[in-house]
Amino acid sequence: MNPSCSINQTAIWAQLHQHQRSTRFLHMRELFEQDPDRFEKMHEQLNGLMLDYSKNRITEDTLNLLIELATIADVRGWTDKMRRGEKINISENRAVLHTALRLPAEVAVYVDNHNVVPDIHAELERAFTFAESVRNGEYTGVTGETITDIVNIGIGGSHLGPEMVTLALRPFQQPNLNVHYVANVDGANLMEVLNTIKPSRSLFIIASKSFTTPETLLNAQTARRWFLQQGMTEKDIARHFIAISSAVSKAQDFGIDAQNIFAMFDWVGGRFSVWSTIGLSVMCAIGKKNFQDFLAGGRAMDEHFFTAPLRHNIPVLLSLIGLWYHTFYNTTSHAIIPYDHGLRRLAAHLQQLDMESNGKQVGRYGEHLDFDTGPVIWGEEGVNCQHAFFQLLHQGPRLISSDFIVPINSFYHVSTQHKMLVANAFAQTEALMHGKTLAEAYAELMHLDNKSRDMLAPQKVFPGNQPSNTLLLDEINPFNLGMLLAMYEHKVFVQGIIWGINSFDQWGVEYGKVLAKKIQPELGTTGPLQHDASTNGLIAYFRKHHHDTNTN
Ligand code: F6P
Repeated sequence: MNPSCSINQTAIWAQLHQHQRSTRFLHMRELFEQDPDRFEKMHEQLNGLMLDYSKNRITEDTLNLLIELATIADVRGWTDKMRRGEKINISENRAVLHTALRLPAEVAVYVDNHNVVPDIHAELERAFTFAESVRNGEYTGVTGETITDIVNIGIGGSHLGPEMVTLALRPFQQPNLNVHYVANVDGANLMEVLNTIKPSRSLFIIASKSFTTPETLLNAQTARRWFLQQGMTEKDIARHFIAISSAVSKAQDFGIDAQNIFAMFDWVGGRFSVWSTIGLSVMCAIGKKNFQDFLAGGRAMDEHFFTAPLRHNIPVLLSLIGLWYHTFYNTTSHAIIPYDHGLRRLAAHLQQLDMESNGKQVGRYGEHLDFDTGPVIWGEEGVNCQHAFFQLLHQGPRLISSDFIVPINSFYHVSTQHKMLVANAFAQTEALMHGKTLAEAYAELMHLDNKSRDMLAPQKVFPGNQPSNTLLLDEINPFNLGMLLAMYEHKVFVQGIIWGINSFDQWGVEYGKVLAKKIQPELGTTGPLQHDASTNGLIAYFRKHHHDTNTN
C-alpha cells in the first residue's frame, strides 16, 4: 500500500463496512445451527495451545475480507521488516526486536550492521549465572546469609510483565525465595514490602530501561535510605542493590556498581521486555531452565506467526477479529478473562501492551486516523468476575468481545475444583453466544401467573450474540505462557500495522509526566499557582490539609 494512502481509503475498507451492514443482524446461534462443523473450521492449535474463535460474529466471507485487508496493509512485509531489525519505530528511529530476544545464539540479526544476537545471549547468560547463584545460595548478603527476598523496583514494562510471569509460574518457583514487586510511588507499596524483609537477606533490583523514570528512582532512593537506616553501610549497597537498564552510565551515576548492572537494549520496548534481562526477577524465581522454556515458547509462537498462512495464523486471526469489532462495529473495549488464579495480572500486563501500543489516533507518518483504533483492555480472573461484571456482558446494551483463557490441567491436585472452574468458563462462552429468547424465558416461567410472567420474562432474556475467543492451554507452564504472551504481542503488532500506527512509541505518557514535575514542588510551598481553576483548587486544598510526615 502506498504510504500516502490511508487504509480507510481502500476499496477493501469500504467492502468491510458494507459487509458489516449486511451481516450485523446475524445471530451466532443461527450460524452454529447452519453449520455443525463451525468449531472444526474455526479453531487452530499450536503445541499446547488451542484457539477456538468460532463464537464470533464472523462468517468465512468476513475472514476472507479481513485477510485481504491484512494483505493490502502489508502485514507480511512489516513483519519481515521487524524481524530483520529495520527501524520500524519511526518516531524514535529504533528497531523493534523483542523477537530477537527469543532467538537461538546461532541466528544473526543486524541493527546498524551489528549482529545483536551475541550481545543478547551474553547479557542473558550473565543474568542466568547471577540468578542461579542467588538461587543456590552462593550469592549471599554481606553477612554471609542467603538471599530470601528479592525486591524488583520498576514500573510499566519493568514491572507488569515480570510480576505477571512470576505469579503465573508460582508452581515453578524456588521455595524460600520471595519475589516482591514495587512499582507505585505511593510509599505504601514500598513500605509494605520493607516491613516484611530483613536488609541483610534482601536483594533490590532497580529495573528501568531509561533509568530516568522518577517513580522508580525515588523508590530506589527510599529503599537505599531504609537499607542504611537498618544498620547496613554504604559499602554494603554494592552487594544488595543491582540494576537493569539500557542506560548503564545513568545506573552507575545512581551509585550501582558497574558489575551489578545488567544491560538491556534500546530496541526493546518496555512493554516487550520481560524476555530480556528485565526478567531477572523471574529468572531468580523460576531458574534458568524454566526461563529458557519461556523463551522457547515465545520463539515457537514467533515461528508460527512468521510462517503460518494468514488464515491459520493464531495472532493474525485474533488481531483481525478484534479489529473487526473495534473498527467496523465501533466497540470500545475488549475483556481478558483468565480462568487461572496465577494469571490474575495478565489483564494488567495486556493493558500496557495493547493500550500503550495502539492507544493512538495519529498514524505513523503524523496523519490523523479517521476511524476507531485501540480498544480499552480490561479484565479479571474467572470465576470471580462472573459475580461482578458479567451481568453487563450478558444483559447490558453493549457489544463487548472477550478472550477466555483456560488451562486444561492444574498444578494443584484439585481436579474437582478445576472441573468446576472450567465448566464455568465454557458455560459463560456458551451463554454469551447463545443467549435466551423471550419465548424461552416465558417457557421457563409457566408456573407463574400471567402478570408475573409478563413482568419477569423480559428481564430473563439474554440477547446473546456476544463474541468470545477461547484459548485452551494444556497447563500454565513456562513454554505455554511464552506462547501466550508472544501471541498477544503479535496480535497488537498486526492491528497497529493495519491501522497505520507506530505501536512502539508512547508520546501520550509524556505530558502528564512534565506537569507532575511542575506540580510536585508546588505542593510543598505557598507560592502563586498558574494552572486552571480546578488544578489550582486541588493544590490549595492539599496544601491546607496535608500533614508533612517526611522523614527524609
Ligand atoms: O511512562 C511509560 C513508560 O515509558 C513505559 O513505556 C515503560 O515501560 C515505563 O514507563 C517504565 O520505563 P523505564 O523502564 O524506562 O523506567
